[in-house]
Formats: sequence, C-alpha cells, structure tokens
Amino acid sequence: MGKLKIVTVLGARPQFIKAAVVSSAFREHFEEILVHTGQHYDPNMSDVFFEELHIPNPKYHLNIGSGPHGEMTGAMLTAIEKVLETEKPDFVLVYGDTNSTLAGALAASKMLIPVIHVEAGLRSFNKAMPEEQNRILTDHLSELLFAPTQTAVKNLHREGIHQGVHLVGDVMYDGILHFREIARQKSSILADLGLAEKEYILCTIHRAENTNDPERLKSIVSGLNAVLEKIVLPLHPRTQKYLQSYGIRLADHIQVIDPLGYLDIVMLESAAKKIVTDSGGIQKEAFFLGIPCITLREETEWVETVENGWNTLVGADEQKIVGAITGFNPAEERSDYFGTGNAAAEMVAVIRNTLKN
Ligand code: UD1
Ligand code: UDP
Repeated sequence: MGKLKIVTVLGARPQFIKAAVVSSAFREHFEEILVHTGQHYDPNMSDVFFEELHIPNPKYHLNIGSGPHGEMTGAMLTAIEKVLETEKPDFVLVYGDTNSTLAGALAASKMLIPVIHVEAGLRSFNKAMPEEQNRILTDHLSELLFAPTQTAVKNLHREGIHQGVHLVGDVMYDGILHFREIARQKSSILADLGLAEKEYILCTIHRAENTNDPERLKSIVSGLNAVLEKIVLPLHPRTQKYLQSYGIRLADHIQVIDPLGYLDIVMLESAAKKIVTDSGGIQKEAFFLGIPCITLREETEWVETVENGWNTLVGADEQKIVGAITGFNPAEERSDYFGTGNAAAEMVAVIRNTLKN
C-alpha cells in the first residue's frame, strides 16, 4: 500500500510557520502536497519562510492575491477544487482561521474528502472577526480536529463537536522549542538594528479591527507615541497601507522596519522587554518565551495567557497602552497549557490510527 496522501492548503504567514513543524514530521509517514493559495505573496510575507525554515516547495501556487473576503475566498475555492480533482487525496489539512483555511476546508468537504483542522476550537466569541467566522465554519466541516488547549476542546464540545477531537498541544510551541536556539545562532537582527537586550519594546499590529478603523489605529499610535521607551515595529503591509492613507504619524522613538523572517522575529521577541501586539501567534510566543505581552484587543482566544497573568488586554485604549507599557510586570510561574512540544508527532500518530480503524 502506498503512503497516505494529504493535500495541505496554506497561504498566510502564520500557516507557513506551523507548516514548518508539521511538514517535517509528516515527511517520513505521508505523501504531503502543499497548495499555496497566494493570500500572502510579498517575499517577506511568504518566500522567506519557505527558504529559512526548509518548508517543501508547494506543488501548486494558486496566486490568488489580495481582495475582498468573498472574492478572495471564492477564487480560492474554485482553484482548490481543481487541485483536489487532480490529486484525489485521502485528507485535506488546513491551519488556523484565515480565508485560505475556510476555502481549503469547504472545497474538500463538498467533495467528501475528510478535513483535518490544525488549531481547532479557538474562539474569541466575537463574530465580527473574519477569523472567528472562518474557524467556526472550518471546525464544523472537519473530521479530525487538533485542539491546542483544553479550552479549545471545551469550546468544541459546547458546539456539539465531540467526534474526532484530539488534544495534542500547540504546534507553535513545537516550533519555538525547535527554532529559538537556531534563531540565537543565526540571527544578527539585534546588531543590525543597534538594539540591546531588554532595552526595547517589540510591537506588531495587523488585525483588521485595528487597522481598518482610523479612530482605533490613531488611538493605538497615540499610546505608542506617548511612552519614552524605544519601540521596534515590523510593519505588516496592511498596516503600512492604512497608516499612510489615514496620515497617522509615528514618533521618532518608534523604529519601523519591514516584516521579518521567523528567526529574526523570534530573536527580537526573546530579547524584548515587553511585546505589544494584536497577533494571535505572537501572544503565544511571548508566553512561551516568558515575555510580558500587552494585547491590543478587547478579547483573546488564548485566554490561558491572560489568566496566568502574562498577557493583558488593553484594546485600543491610549491610556491603558501607556499604563501597561510602563506598569505591567507579571511575576507568576507559567503553566503548561500548550502541551509538551510534541504536537506534530502526536498528530502523525492520530492520523495513522484513524486510517487503521
Ligand atoms: C490575514 C488573515 C489573518 C491573519 C493574518 C496573518 C484573513 C481574513 N486574515 O490577515 O487572520 O492573522 O493574515 O498575517 O484571512 N498585503 C500585501 N502583501 C502581502 C499580503 C498582504 O501587501 O503579501 C496587503 C494587501 O494590501 C492586503 C492586506 O495586506 O489587502 C491584507 O491582506 P489579507 O491577506 O487580506 O489579510 P491579513 O491582514 O494579512
Ligand atoms: N512573524 C514573523 N515576522 C514578522 C511578524 C510575525 O515571522 O514580522 C511571525 C510570528 O512570530 C508568528 C507569526 O508570524 O509566528 C504570526 O503571524 P501573524 O501575526 O501575521 O498572524 P496571526 O498569528 O495573528 O494570525
């Protein structure tokens, strides 16, 4: 019997990082075919990760690019369906909660190909977020649901999903454990930017609810402008576009740089005094690395990081941002909410068992 065939659909930055870990664990056991939707396409939002993290080359590049949600997701659906007709895989695997995730899951499900969802069960309980819509729909279409946390399992059970749910831990934790030492050895980002350890704040902003609302974006920037600390801001192209179009000015103590590769960002995260972000992945990485995290949102899917005292939710409130940058200093021990760093291997075991049964 040949190897089990999995088509993995991916297209956005955090998915490449998750795939680095998972594809490497899959290689020995399954035939995996990568389909890149083209949702992220700038070299520093895509190619850099394939090169430095040794992710296999996608067999299919759909080149869908940016656009309104319906147009983007619809174009992906059409193109993915064609790939699935050609490849006839045993499973389709998707990561997280982007439009690429939903398109992959929906295309497969309509063709009765079982869907594997990695990072299943996350909920912000804010349905206005495009990601919340994507994840709810994807979970309800999936056959195998790999939950990173106990909370994620509970969320799935609450929605009546019991079958196929497996608590395996978080593949991003696997990633940090594997790559943080490599980052230390290979990245020269601190020297390149003239930064000293623990003497700067790392900030990232990209979430639609912050960038597309001029009042929220202005208020966030006012908070950052008001502190005395040095701030490093690797700027997502979405945010760059909106800062420009709203004419929002950043103070001189904010060093704006292009988006970084994973090894450089992990290095910058580990050496930061604090992290200010609206990223899902970076909230977790801050927790894994023991860096206080200030989250520019009203709610988070990663509730454990807040409950454990290492993450604080400040929304887009200027005063709260300033207050947290100066005064938020967690001291609690961090608990093991995210597994043992073995999530990818556990996924392999579950998939192989599923096949046997
Ligand atoms: C997407 C995901 C979000 C995820 C994020 C990771 C959805 C609905 N959102 O948000 O969940 O957290 O990726 O980074 O799927 N752009 C470029 N070059 C690129 C990519 C994007 O210039 O390579 C610009 C375009 O102007 C584009 C905008 O960024 O319109 C937004 O890109 P899009 O993929 O729609 O959403 P993200 O904000 O990246
Ligand atoms: N990341 C990166 N370069 C950057 C900013 C982020 O490699 O300039 C990584 C980050 O370390 C994390 C992932 O991208 O692993 C998170 O992606 P993003 O913030 O774009 O999306 P989210 O996690 O919010 O969906």
